[in-house]
Amino acid sequence: MKKITSICCIGAGYVGGPTMSVIAQKCPEIKVTVVDINEARIEAWNDKDLDKLPVYEPGLAEVVDEARGRNLFFSTDVDKAIQEAEMIFISVNTPTKTYGVGKGRAADLKFVELCARQIARVANGDKIVVEKSTLPVRTAESVKRILKAEAGEHEFQILSNPEFLAEGTAIDDLHNADRMLIGGDQDEKGQEAIQALVDVYAHWLPKDRLITTNLWSSELSKLTANAFLAQRVSSINAISALCERTGADVDEVANAIGSDSRIGPKFLKSSVGFGGSCFQKDILNLVYLCRHFGLPEVADYWEQVVAMNDYQKHRFAKQIIDTLFNTVSGKKIAFLGWAFKKDTNDTRESAAIYVAHELLQDRAEIHVYDPKVPKAQMFRDMEYLIENPGSVYTENPLPENWRDLIVVHEEPYTAMDSAHAIAVLTEWDEFKTYDWASIYAKMLKPAFVFDGRNILDGEAMAEYGFEFRGIGKGL
Ligand code: NAD
Ligand code: UGA
Repeated sequence: MKKITSICCIGAGYVGGPTMSVIAQKCPEIKVTVVDINEARIEAWNDKDLDKLPVYEPGLAEVVDEARGRNLFFSTDVDKAIQEAEMIFISVNTPTKTYGVGKGRAADLKFVELCARQIARVANGDKIVVEKSTLPVRTAESVKRILKAEAGEHEFQILSNPEFLAEGTAIDDLHNADRMLIGGDQDEKGQEAIQALVDVYAHWLPKDRLITTNLWSSELSKLTANAFLAQRVSSINAISALCERTGADVDEVANAIGSDSRIGPKFLKSSVGFGGSCFQKDILNLVYLCRHFGLPEVADYWEQVVAMNDYQKHRFAKQIIDTLFNTVSGKKIAFLGWAFKKDTNDTRESAAIYVAHELLQDRAEIHVYDPKVPKAQMFRDMEYLIENPGSVYTENPLPENWRDLIVVHEEPYTAMDSAHAIAVLTEWDEFKTYDWASIYAKMLKPAFVFDGRNILDGEAMAEYGFEFRGIGKGL
């Protein structure tokens, strides 16, 4: 089988950028070109100043620095990159549909379809097309049909190679992936294509971590993995509510159950609710597929994971309002964090957006500090949620002047000065290092802290004088 020497990736986002940078780093003899229609994004990937890369990931700048200009290239010339490549990854966004059939549930595959059509139109030879985006099971069938219908004399092999990296740890996840999953056709040509991609990853991953399957198992495994992970978070969050009524401590419960090797300790951290661009979108997509295939009971089962997450975000916002004497109107609430988790500048579906929306419904004044998220992004997030409420808790309109009620700070202390309450929305490590005694001194009393990530030491905070509430922390 011919070794791959030229790869193109369509989509220079959170997945395409880091994934291709690592392939280029580990496979110096392969030319890797990442293309995107978003010119600003490509410009940022090419910026000499590595602090300006469009994706913030620990370790990414070093990888880009090593490979960029050697065998890693970022470009807006999609056609040329398709023509030059033997293997083409499709790593474009597949958001939840916001219109028409399947609105609010199904994955919007228009970007994937556009890529397939473009590949078919401009391809000048046989190609291996790799689905890197997360897709509903059986999407490869549609991709194949489009390619075949427009392909002329060229042959296309379709592979499914879903990505399992998590943001904030993307580089480590790619360097030391638990597994790389590659699905393809089971005939001879399909097997050859699978082997070509196995050979790429075998540059740095041990063979036993390269799992090969048929196309449909691979596509479905990605949705299933995210559904299982999100289910764990919703399960422990459900228990956190019971802890608060009964005096149990959710971290102690998580530790106790996680010590059972059958359950395992990971992904049992109770929080204000999971966010990120994928968990909710992928579960809703799974739910949609189950209904489509006539399995309403299965759909209802998975839908509950998202419902529990909505409830957890709502519970947190409601606790703030209830504790602050039943209204936050005109009160200064400091938000520590806006990103959906630490070590990323990504805010998609972040719990902070939903909590802000509920507090703004009650006319709070929200003062936000996040070390990586720019102000304009926070306002875009609010606007998106207003247009696409998605949850019963965020359907009520905001006051007309809601923009004036969000104040974004460049540093944390001004955000917390004279605040009625602090809410921790993201688990950034720096929050643990703050001078909490002086923060307490400058807040209105009683000074409330709602730790939506359970990162602060409740006893120490109480000693400073705070009225402290963690998630799932007893009565
Ligand atoms: P993203 O929005 O950050 O990036 C997608 C990019 O594709 C955008 O820059 C967009 O401009 C570009 N694009 C769209 N259509 C295009 C076209 N026709 N031609 C060229 N460029 C085009 O998305 P992402 O977070 O990188 O996610 C990509 C896929 O990977 C999704 O299916 C997602 O579910 C999946 N995924 C994401 C993560 C994650 O951590 N973000 C992890 C695993 C899987
Ligand atoms: C998740 C999966 O972990 C990846 O394997 C997958 O590739 C990716 O989705 C995807 O398909 O996009 P990501 O969303 O980047 O990765 O981050 P996670 O670490 O999974 O966290 C997701 C959310 O769950 C965050 O808001 C996080 O704070 C929350 N979480 C996670 C908890 O509240 N508790 C936990 O124990 C773990």
